[in-house]
Amino acid sequence: GLSASAALARRPSITGAELRSAVALPPPFQVPLPIPAVLKPLSTSDGSDHYQITQREARAEILPGVTTPLWTYEGSFPGPTIESRRGRPVTVTHRNELPVPTVVHLHGGRTPAASDGYPTDLVLPEGWPDATTPPGHEAGHGSGHGAPHVMHDPRAVVTRLTRDYTFPLDQRATMLWYHDHRMDFTAPALWRGLAGLHIVRDDAEDALGLPAGPRELPIMITDRAFAADGSLAYPSLDPTLRERPGVHEPYLAGVLGDVILVNGAPWPVHETDAARYRLRLLNASNARHYELEAVTDDGRRLDLVQIGADQGLLAAPVPHRLLPLAPAERYDVIIDFSGVPIGGRVRLLNRLGEGRTREVMAFRIARRAGDDSTIPRTLATDLPAWRRTDAVRVRDFSFRAGQLHDGRGWLIGGLPFDPARSDVTTRLGDVEVWRLIADVHHPVHLHLVGFQVLSRSGRPPLPHDAGLKDTVSLRPGEAVEIITRFDGYRGRYLFHCHNAEHEDMAMMANLEIT
Ligand code: C2O
Ligand code: CU
Repeated sequence: GLSASAALARRPSITGAELRSAVALPPPFQVPLPIPAVLKPLSTSDGSDHYQITQREARAEILPGVTTPLWTYEGSFPGPTIESRRGRPVTVTHRNELPVPTVVHLHGGRTPAASDGYPTDLVLPEGWPDATTPPGHEAGHGSGHGAPHVMHDPRAVVTRLTRDYTFPLDQRATMLWYHDHRMDFTAPALWRGLAGLHIVRDDAEDALGLPAGPRELPIMITDRAFAADGSLAYPSLDPTLRERPGVHEPYLAGVLGDVILVNGAPWPVHETDAARYRLRLLNASNARHYELEAVTDDGRRLDLVQIGADQGLLAAPVPHRLLPLAPAERYDVIIDFSGVPIGGRVRLLNRLGEGRTREVMAFRIARRAGDDSTIPRTLATDLPAWRRTDAVRVRDFSFRAGQLHDGRGWLIGGLPFDPARSDVTTRLGDVEVWRLIADVHHPVHLHLVGFQVLSRSGRPPLPHDAGLKDTVSLRPGEAVEIITRFDGYRGRYLFHCHNAEHEDMAMMANLEIT
């Protein structure tokens, strides 16, 4: 086991400013776990699937007795799940009926730049003035958090009302997620509900015999806080968000809520068979980190057997007793309920939480049942084998707090995000090693590519760093080396911190592939 001080060192030193709900919170493990509906395509002709998603305001009864206004994809939070096959292209026509401009990004997608949701490629709502942002908000880094600042992007491709996003999905089977990515306003859009899942499957994965059907569960974890009228509490300077203005230095570290939602429901419970289940875990929280453990009524901890990372299956399973989940990370895990007494419960707990944020959800083991699923000892054989010596260059990036306009913000390599500046230019096909150095906890995400973790402060990667990732959690003071090959498409992409408030407070940079 870890010594107490080692365990302490594993905790994020800084997470965020916790907002407290002003409504009565329900007891844990009462609300059934919702499973987001799978979206039906409008058409499936020419070897591709065409979907339409309307972004609109909706209300939902998330907490009993109050309704919560949300920004949604198709009226629900999470949005509907899209299910695709590897290599079968998908077009999604997004229609923006929200009161603000939006941008859609498919997180983890190998997507041509024109459909990748660059933060200034806005979809304006119908009545929005021609300017890409409202008067007084010509840019303004950060959920309205930062100082207003005029910024113009000559390369932005702005559309009105609708935009077609095309996803080739020529990539490994995995669980992606789509979410808003508007410059400086991603955090409040996420908080208000603009997130959904997109699962890519393939034949190789199907052939493994993993738990499937009702024994495969998407688990999207978010934290939120609620105002007395049931609305989501979020501090923002932007009047179009109709929330309390103010100076938000306390929120520099990110915004945390005191209510844990799984698939949009507070501390839910799911009835299961006494069998193996596949959990597709996603931390879609703005800023909260989790360390998940699965605990039985008599205090036993069940293994979370990791079979996949952000970018698909591992070479071999990795068992965890404690699984850290940084914002935007996905973990594909198998949990075996067969040894749990019928009627018993397994709680998914968050070791980093306090009070109610220690609880996430529960499984109630309802019945005995057959189980012909397996966890093969070899999962995938197609993982890239990049070596340090393959790298044509090594780059260093610091992720640190710094001066942003007339306030404070978050910088990469000492600079705040600027769409007009070129930060990284690389050639299609090049292998590179990046050294990422953090002051506090930063989950760093690269668009377009998957990468492998080479080292953490000179030491070997941690067990949960296995496989191909698109988001890596930098712990306070750490230097993390990753290796990747920039293949797929040419064009303008991004890398950034996925603490959504850090991202909005300018911790983002351009990645140009030529
Ligand atoms: Cu999940 Cu650039 O984002
Ligand atoms: Cu960060």
